[in-house]
Amino acid sequence: MRMIFLDNAAGTWPKPPEVGRAMAEALECYGANPGRGSYEMTCRTAEMVDRVRQRLAALINAPDHRRVVFTAGATMSLNMALYGFLQAGDHVIYSGMEHNAVFRPLHALACGGRISLSRAPADQAGYLCPESVARLIKPHTALIVLCHASNVCGSVQPLAEIAGLAKSRGIPLLVDAAQSVGLLPLDVAALDIALLALPGHKALYGPSGIGALYVREGLRLTPLISGGTGGQSERKTQPSHYPEHLEAGSLNTVGIAGWGAALDFVEKIGVDHLYRYSMGLLDPLAEKLRALPGVILYLPEQPRPRVPVLAFNLRGYTAAETAAFLSQSGICLRSGYHCAPLAHRSLDSFEEGSVRVSPGWYNTKAHLDALADAVEALVSRRV
Ligand code: ALA
Repeated sequence: MRMIFLDNAAGTWPKPPEVGRAMAEALECYGANPGRGSYEMTCRTAEMVDRVRQRLAALINAPDHRRVVFTAGATMSLNMALYGFLQAGDHVIYSGMEHNAVFRPLHALACGGRISLSRAPADQAGYLCPESVARLIKPHTALIVLCHASNVCGSVQPLAEIAGLAKSRGIPLLVDAAQSVGLLPLDVAALDIALLALPGHKALYGPSGIGALYVREGLRLTPLISGGTGGQSERKTQPSHYPEHLEAGSLNTVGIAGWGAALDFVEKIGVDHLYRYSMGLLDPLAEKLRALPGVILYLPEQPRPRVPVLAFNLRGYTAAETAAFLSQSGICLRSGYHCAPLAHRSLDSFEEGSVRVSPGWYNTKAHLDALADAVEALVSRRV
């Protein structure tokens, strides 16, 4: 049976072939431990790591590439930012569209009595308005956390406005760019973003297990873990300079090599083109589904900024039943809460979650047509 992968929001698949080749080359030919020796292999690995760091910095317009630290993924980046930045007594504003990678650490810190929280509500289509964030600001608000684009329904928040608000009130902004990087332009310098979390394996087409955290110059972050960095080993404390401050232990050099090749691929095609290609596949599907009886689409009434993620449900079927039926036709997509129950509460889909379609570069119109046909078959079976 043919397989149609439409779950790119969880992690793009397949990867560009050059990603696997770069990883194999690093494993087999040169992937030594950078900064841990001066022989040719470590130098070559260190150069590769530095080059990928520079590519990432250029992608988000970070003024200093050393402030982009490698992590195991966006979840780790977000945890490093939250646990490393927040102090006892801080107040944090977060949104009603956050993923558990943000909400769970915040909840744990709040339950431990360290911080207090305010949630900026999203509307039923998954959008925030900057005024509702502004209303929540208190004298001791230390951080605003914003999920740039929803992994559940694709809504894109007014980042520039919220960043402007944060800047005008002198409050650092942490952006979860897990679903937007690689699809939307990001400029941490222009928006004066304090912290930005990135995954490798989503719309940047890299492997799993690699991500990054951007930390604005001057922002103090306590490292979540400490250990070897290859230099200043005689000291008892973690070096204060970046990236070593937040990069204790051996780096995932194979993942970084793969990510570097993936970034070349993304640059060659272009972020804007990648976005328009996937949206060009998804928009006609949304129109087809809208025409079917009993299809609930979680979309705004008027066009608003979105990434290529579409959430839907079919009346008469649970989200899990719909996904299981589609899986019998070889169609791979994710149902349930997508690790973001807050977003489902906002969309009013908390009872059972939703089904999510998220095309990527390797999908074709035929894939989306096959999905539309399969949904139609399921709908007519019910009628
Ligand atoms: N956060 C990922 C998703 O949206 C894994 O499916």
